[in-house]
Amino acid sequence: MFLRSNSSTISNSSLYTSPPIIRNTLLSVSMALLLTACGGSDDSNNSSNDGNTNVPNPPTTPDTPEIDTNWQPAGGSATIAANGSQPFLQIMPNLPSSALGGVSPGRELFITEWTPANEGRVLFDGVGPLLNANACTQCHSAEGRKPIYAANGQLSDAILFRLGNKQGLPHAYYGEQMQHQSIATSIHPEGSMRYAAMPSQNDKPAGIQFSFTPTDPNQPLGNTAISGRISPQLVGMGLLDLIPEANIIAAADPDDNNQDGISGRVHWVQDGKQQRIGRFGWKGINSSLRTQNANAMSQDMGLTTSVFMDPNCTVNQPICWTAANGGSPEVSDSSLDAVTDFMTALAVPERRIDDLSDFNKGAQLFAQVGCAGCHTQAKNRQ
Ligand code: HEC
Ligand code: HEC
Repeated sequence: MFLRSNSSTISNSSLYTSPPIIRNTLLSVSMALLLTACGGSDDSNNSSNDGNTNVPNPPTTPDTPEIDTNWQPAGGSATIAANGSQPFLQIMPNLPSSALGGVSPGRELFITEWTPANEGRVLFDGVGPLLNANACTQCHSAEGRKPIYAANGQLSDAILFRLGNKQGLPHAYYGEQMQHQSIATSIHPEGSMRYAAMPSQNDKPAGIQFSFTPTDPNQPLGNTAISGRISPQLVGMGLLDLIPEANIIAAADPDDNNQDGISGRVHWVQDGKQQRIGRFGWKGINSSLRTQNANAMSQDMGLTTSVFMDPNCTVNQPICWTAANGGSPEVSDSSLDAVTDFMTALAVPERRIDDLSDFNKGAQLFAQVGCAGCHTQAKNRQ
């Protein structure tokens, strides 16, 4: 309870745009990884970096950044031992018992395989009509990221594909995400994705190519782009929810005022009537942990909540709307809040440092070449 009310208050004014590695490392509040890699002489060097604002110029004479190698736990008091082959989905150590209310039922809801409506599991039913997977843990596991590539060009369920045109608008038929499964034969999955390894050609490097086959050939993607998203391991989610909006805005530096050659921009998202900073997901599409979870329930699993009341069917998918539902909404507020408590309580696994001097050297280089300009260290929580 304590955790949830804390996080939802703060998420009202919170934002986040950085990627996971930033987020993993930014939790270390006691470490000062200084961005002093570019000294005076390097500034002139950087300013001649015409137009290439995203890539910092490496300093010609590498300075040695001052880093404090007295490493503190990556997630402060939320850090936990790595626990062998299952370092993730562990609960913060020493949580006050008043904070534990929803964590245990939330964990249950997170690992259960949800069933379609009317199969007798009132708390855990209503998945679909369209879905990518029927359990959160099919994509987010304690071991880490799930394999994506399967045999014969097939993909596992743990990669999903988001849809949008240049304006960021969803596809009229498929919506904002492609669901490759459905609960009934009368409701067709939207299509399937495959991959193929491509050899290098002319000036194109070798790579992986994805292709989409729609179930209904009359529903082409048209000018909608399709974008694959690997399921991330979930680390310190509650801490990220607590980072004050102002800290992220301050770090963005869109006009590169500090002239380190690195600039970012905040991703604002519409949240009800408010504009908030998107901080969850690879591209910061959800502004709070609770909304992120509700969105996962809706788009990945076809579960309705008070946040997203409609099934994940578009207006152009009339048969999809005829499926039975598992309640209105299918996931009660107390279940959504319990899952959010569980996510909020997720610990940060400790760093695994095999060779400290190597590690220190890496940390130094990380700061020196400018990685830490985006993947910043401390982001104080409220
Ligand atoms: C089909 C696979 C899949 C399922 C099922 C799934 N997720 Fe996710 N999850 C993802 C992917 C992929 C992302 C990254 C999304 C993006 O970038 O837009 C993500 C992102 C997240 C994040 C944000 C992580 C971050 O670092 O920003 C949270 C929290 C999360 N999911 C919670 C859940 C919960 C809770 C459930 C179950 C209700 C769930 N997910 C079910 C694939 C899945
Ligand atoms: C201009 C900002 C910026 C700089 C500079 C930068 N990164 Fe990143 N990095 C990002 C963003 C944004 C992402 C997430 C991108 C995505 O959607 O995959 C990312 C993702 C990553 C990931 C993947 C994280 C994961 O969980 O899979 C790694 C690893 C990484 N960066 C390492 C580095 C290293 C090493 C450097 C320095 C050589 C560096 N980055 C410099 C912005 C930056």
